[in-house]
Amino acid sequence: SKGANGHGNPRDFVAKMKEGKKRLVIFYGSQTGTAEEYAIRIAKEAKSKFGLTSLVCDPEEYDFENLDQVPEDCAVIFVMATYGEGEPTDNSVTLMENLKDKSFEFSNGEHKLEGLKYVVFGLGNRTYEHYNAIARIVDQELTEMGAVRIGERGEGDDDRSMEEDYLAWKDAMWDALAKDMNVEEGQGGDTPDFVVTVLDEHPEEKVYLGELSARALTKTKGIHDAKNPYPAPIAVARELFEKGADRNCVHIELNIEGSGITYQHGDHVGVWPSNPLTEVDRLLCALGLFDKKDAVIGIESLDPALAKVPFPVPTTYATVLRHYIDISALAGRQILGVLSKFAPSPAAEAFLKNLNTNKEEYAKVVADGCLKLGEVLQLAAGNDLKATPTTANTTPWSIPFDIVISNIPRLQPRYYSISSSPKLHPGSIHVTAVVLRYQSVHNPHVPERWIYGIGSNFLMNVKLAHNSEDEPLISEPSGLGEPGVITPNYSIEGPRGAHKEGKTYKVPVHVRRSTFRLPTNPKTPVIMVGPGTGVAPFRGFVQERVALARRSIDKNGPDALADWGRISLFYGCRKSTEDFLYQDEWPQYESELKGKFKIHCAFSREPPYKPDGGKIYVQDLIWEDRKNIADMILTGKGYVYVCGDAKAMSKQVEETLCRILGEAKGGTAEVEGAAEVKLLKERSRLMLDVWS
Ligand code: 2AM
Repeated sequence: SKGANGHGNPRDFVAKMKEGKKRLVIFYGSQTGTAEEYAIRIAKEAKSKFGLTSLVCDPEEYDFENLDQVPEDCAVIFVMATYGEGEPTDNSVTLMENLKDKSFEFSNGEHKLEGLKYVVFGLGNRTYEHYNAIARIVDQELTEMGAVRIGERGEGDDDRSMEEDYLAWKDAMWDALAKDMNVEEGQGGDTPDFVVTVLDEHPEEKVYLGELSARALTKTKGIHDAKNPYPAPIAVARELFEKGADRNCVHIELNIEGSGITYQHGDHVGVWPSNPLTEVDRLLCALGLFDKKDAVIGIESLDPALAKVPFPVPTTYATVLRHYIDISALAGRQILGVLSKFAPSPAAEAFLKNLNTNKEEYAKVVADGCLKLGEVLQLAAGNDLKATPTTANTTPWSIPFDIVISNIPRLQPRYYSISSSPKLHPGSIHVTAVVLRYQSVHNPHVPERWIYGIGSNFLMNVKLAHNSEDEPLISEPSGLGEPGVITPNYSIEGPRGAHKEGKTYKVPVHVRRSTFRLPTNPKTPVIMVGPGTGVAPFRGFVQERVALARRSIDKNGPDALADWGRISLFYGCRKSTEDFLYQDEWPQYESELKGKFKIHCAFSREPPYKPDGGKIYVQDLIWEDRKNIADMILTGKGYVYVCGDAKAMSKQVEETLCRILGEAKGGTAEVEGAAEVKLLKERSRLMLDVWS
């Protein structure tokens, strides 16, 4: 991004605004792309509503000294995600520093932004303590500097209702913005973002068929990160649950040798899934594109500042739906309004319009019915959702493909806590994933269907493909649940093998750094709480200590671990005979760590039960071991780690810690215990890696 004439400072956003006659500049603090999508969406709405054009900016690419120079008839919009424990996203670190640092001077020589008009929308997650901290700080700092907010601050909750929170916020914000910027609705118009053209003659080797970065075919090398995932060959893939369990849990080892990728215990791996073929076919049929699915298409942005083509091109219709956009998510309420215009019948149009405007109806039909976009289109047109989708049983809509690209977000990676240590496994990353699969709840509007979690079922199918002699994998009976239920085909190779080389399947991945790490000194006691797949990072932690123990013993003899702290792992699962993860590995780790490591297991669905018949969970074992726990934390200055379910489990474990520490301090859980837990968190001696 250079100045238009090649001169001027490319980091000067005010100059760019003036040059492009843009009255809005939108900065997004985005880690995985969601905030960026909302930024783009806001830009598009400003254009279609008021004819206002925006400069959408990655804050990392600009300087903020002249934030005070934004012209009076313009406004600045901040779309800011809060990440981890109240931290800014990587790309907004400097912006946040500049706003907070009272000695940071704008071009007026002061830390003042008198009269600057701004809008804030935050993206956060309510399961974390510092909900939307970054958006709140932005708002507060700007107000303190004399800037004036337009409308209310918006806050979205990624855990439950991001979309609804955005929709609930935006109308009043647009009304306020129209007033403050003196514009009127209806001055815009629906201009498309992209032109899609079918390319008749195109060299096959230059067509993207699932590659996630343009570098893949241009052969330019580069580091592997979220913008350039690495197709990692599968080294090992196996089932972790015992035969007879009614669920699956896959263990996958991804080969990263020679990729330049490194990782640490406690890091996350982003896995880039593909959409199941059934859903791809369903939407292709509903778009009337099934017969042209492999046509090569070029896509160009009509306003690259507003909307970049979100994936590498040229590509094919089928590839876009399979690998690049998120067609497996719940259909959004807003897109249904957009698509209603292209309905095949007045009844279908009315059906979508109603879902778009009637929140209760949307919740009942789409949310409770777990409907994906293709399914909503079928339902609206009266098609049978349960039949295998074909052109014969699916009514085609006349939706232009540029509308599809503009309105369906890019398919995002799914993050898993890495379950290995690089010290024991330098050449591979291990993933432990329980396969999410459930029946949609009974709903009078929508037939009951099996719902498959996209990331874990992708991995499960990767496993099936890896272990299958025959290729290609068409579909595999799951052997689970209802007789005759088939797991949809997630088969991961592109039509011409984008994710496959010979017999080896590849999974596109990148590593995301985390602060979830062991203390460096092995004398420090460690308490780990990880029921279910929450045990994943702790397998890595224990392996890390095993590697260190081997080295210490090599160097200092068999007593090398004598002064090491205790390492306790609290693990829970249903039954010792069914879903006990890595059951065969723990005894070896215990013996190599010479009694310093102990695993405590809570088997919730086998005896012993509590006297009242209740289940025994990890927090019950922690309470039982309270003398040691208090000693490890208070005397040994130990570290506590909790991984797994964010809602019930981690809350109850924290409560138990409060009780233990309160009692040890001679006080109560609510006062002394809670204070101690708070302190542990502040000192990063109590760390969470939790999900919902
Ligand atoms: P359950 O499914 O038998 O209720 C891994 O999922 C283990 O965590 C299972 O044994 C599960 O028990 C248990 N679990 C469920 N809810 C929990 C909670 N609130 N706290 C701790 N463990 C829980």
